[in-house]
Amino acid sequence: MTTALSSPRQETASSNPPQDKAISLDSLSPNQQLLPLTAIVNSSDHLEIGGCDVVELVQQYGTPLYILDEVSLRTACQQYRDAFSKHYQGQSQVLYASKAWSCLAVCAIVGSESLGIDVVSAGEILTALRAGVSPRLIYFHGNNKSVEELSYAIESSCTIVVDNWHELKTLERLAQEGNLSPRIMLRLTPGIECHTHEYIQTGHIDSKFGFDPNEIESVFAFLAESSLNCIGIHAHIGSQIFELQPHQDIGGVMVHWFKLAGEKYSLQFSELNIGGGLGIRYVESDDPPSIEEWVKTVSAGVTAAFVTEGLALPKLLCEPGRSLVGSTCVTAYTIGGSKTVPDIRTYITVDGGMSDNPRPITYQSKYRAVVANHMSSPLSQTVTIAGKHCESGDILIKDIQLPFTNAGDILVVFGTGAYNYSMASNYNRLPKPAAVVVEGGESSLIIKRETREDLLRQDCLPERLHK
Ligand code: LLP
Repeated sequence: MTTALSSPRQETASSNPPQDKAISLDSLSPNQQLLPLTAIVNSSDHLEIGGCDVVELVQQYGTPLYILDEVSLRTACQQYRDAFSKHYQGQSQVLYASKAWSCLAVCAIVGSESLGIDVVSAGEILTALRAGVSPRLIYFHGNNKSVEELSYAIESSCTIVVDNWHELKTLERLAQEGNLSPRIMLRLTPGIECHTHEYIQTGHIDSKFGFDPNEIESVFAFLAESSLNCIGIHAHIGSQIFELQPHQDIGGVMVHWFKLAGEKYSLQFSELNIGGGLGIRYVESDDPPSIEEWVKTVSAGVTAAFVTEGLALPKLLCEPGRSLVGSTCVTAYTIGGSKTVPDIRTYITVDGGMSDNPRPITYQSKYRAVVANHMSSPLSQTVTIAGKHCESGDILIKDIQLPFTNAGDILVVFGTGAYNYSMASNYNRLPKPAAVVVEGGESSLIIKRETREDLLRQDCLPERLHK
C-alpha cells in the first residue's frame, strides 16, 4: 500500500527531496513540483515546510491557513531572471502579475528579487508601491480603468498598458490637461489560440482585451500626433498553458507591429511585453515546461523574429503570475465530520472551501492534498473533500486517496499560491484566512485572519432601521 507523501514523492521524485539528500533546490523549477521546494516529512511524521512543522503552524495560527514558502518564491524569481540573462541577448525585465496574489509581503519579496509588478487596479498599484516597488517597474493593465485610477497611475509614474480607444482618448485628455507625457504601452490581441480553460484564454481574436489588429494602424496614427509616450506593445495569450508553441509564436506576430510603428508612423518602440501564462503542476498528470524552458523558447522566438526583420532586439518583458507564486503555497484546513453515501462516496469536510479557493467551482480545477499530521499512514480510502459552504458544488477535491482520517486532522492542499487568496470572498460571511511566510524554521504572519467584527466593518445600518 502506498503512503501519503509517496504518491507526490514518487511522481515528482525530485520535487520533495528529503533535506539530507544533496539535491540542489535551485535546480528544480518550482512550477513543476506539486509541493513547495522545502517540503519534507519530519521525524514526527508531520509535513514540514520552510523548516516549520505544519501541525505547529496550525496550532499557532489556526485554520484555514495559507503557508507560503519563501525559498520557493525566491527560487522561481531567480530562475526567471537568470534564464533571461542566459538565453536573451537584449535587455529584459520580469514583472510579477500580482493579480495572482497581491499583498505587501509577496510584492516585497518579488520586488527584492528585482522583479517589477503588473497591476490591474488602484488597489494593486497601492500594494506594490507600499511594498517598496519602484513605480518605474509597475505596469498598469485592465480593460476598463477608471479616470480616477488612470490619474492615480499617472501621478504615481507607473506605465499604463492601454487596452482600448476609450482609454487612449481619456489618457490623451488627462495628459493635455496636466501638460504631461505619461509612459504607455498598447495591448494588442495577437490572434493566438492556446489550450486552456476558455475563461482564461485571452489571445484569441474574440476577446474583451486589447486592440483588434484591424484598428492598430489608426491607433498608431493617433499616437503619432499625441502627447503620450508610447514605449512599446503587449500581448497576453492566456493562463495555465503547457504548450510552448503559442509563446514561441508571439514574437513573430508582434514584430510586424513593432516595425510598422517605426517605419510608417515614426513611433520608436523599445519594449515588447509578451505577458504571462506558464502553467504549474497541480496534479501528477500535469506536465508544464520548466521556467527556463519557457524563457528559452520565448527568447528564441522574439530573437528570430526581430533578427529576420532587421530590427534591434527590444527590451523583453514578461508577466508570470501563477508560475511564480502558485506552487510556493499550500492551504492547511482542519478536518471536520464525514458522510458516507453507501456505494457512492465518502465526503470529508474541511473548515474552508470555495471562499478561500474558488478555483475548483469556477474552473473545475484539480488539486492534491495530504494529511499533514500523519504523513506516512497508508492511503486507505478514496474520499471527496467538501468545503463548508452552502453550495453542493463546494467540493475542493473529488476522489482523492487519503489515509484514514479523524475530525481534527490537518488536511493540506498543494498549489494554492495563485488565484486563491486573490479571489477569496466572504461568501456565507466566512472571515478570510490568515497567511504566513515560512523560511529557515521561522514563520511570520503576512495576512491577519479576519475576525467576525471585520465582517461588519463596511456595513451601515440606517438610523430608521435601528431597534
Ligand atoms: N498578464 C496579463 C495581462 C494577464 O491577464 C494575466 C492573467 C497574467 C499576465 C498572468 O498570467 P499567469 O502567468 O498567472 O498565467 N483566475 C484564473 C486565472 C486568470 C488569469 C488572468 N490573467 C485562475 O485561477 O486560473
